Amino acid sequence: MSNLDFIYNRHSVRKFKNEDVPMEDLKEILKAATYCASAKNVQNWHFAVVKDKEKIENMAKAIEKKNLDIASKIEDEKTKKSFTKFVRFATVFRNAPVTVLIYASSYTPTGLEELNNLTGYEDEINHILDMSPKMQSIGALIENLSLAATEMGYGTCWMTSGNYAAKEISEVIDFQKEGFSLAAIVPIGIPEGPIKSPGRKPVDEVMSIIK
Ligand SMILES: Cc1cc2nc3c(=O)[nH]c(=O)nc-3n(C[C@H](O)[C@H](O)[C@H](O)COP(=O)(O)O)c2cc1C
Repeated sequence: MSNLDFIYNRHSVRKFKNEDVPMEDLKEILKAATYCASAKNVQNWHFAVVKDKEKIENMAKAIEKKNLDIASKIEDEKTKKSFTKFVRFATVFRNAPVTVLIYASSYTPTGLEELNNLTGYEDEINHILDMSPKMQSIGALIENLSLAATEMGYGTCWMTSGNYAAKEISEVIDFQKEGFSLAAIVPIGIPEGPIKSPGRKPVDEVMSIIK
């Protein structure tokens, strides 16, 4: 049997010890992340590494503020309550020693230009865009990052729920990169306390054998 512990040991970590992640470890983790597959090998990513505690806290505050701004415009009370309640899942990076912001750039998926020049292929075009090869590459990057960090004794949490405050976050860290947008935030640190992941659907339930 293969040893797949490096996969099963990864969990979303939302509490971190107050211990630094040395730069050489961080670089190793980010390098390992970039050894994922990417569509057309475009490697459409960029990392913004934030270690400054005040900036990390200010990013969390920017998300909270934007959450309240948006919530104040939501009329349905139930929707508003749930939107504000879940803001804590958008700010769990705030107690991590390092926060890595993953920026993604675009590329033209295979077939898109060709189909755009023809008529009657709206479904195919929508499908290509829906399946977003660009974001599949970013997903592979973040999974690699998480697995590498786990193997090196760190915990991570793949986070996208604060993406509605992408503009404000970029302002807080004073970072913009032409053609790139914020795709996810990944805190990295030594896990604090017990970590539990939710169960998984049985593999037989998510598999169809085609005969
Ligand atoms: C695309 C994506 C976005 C996620 N966004 C968040 C987030 O914003 N906040 C959070 O606490 N967890 C987030 N998660 C973590 C999931 O909640 C977690 O992976 C899932 O519950 C399974 O738990 P596990 O990672 O411990 O196995 C995200 C995961 C993915 C893949």
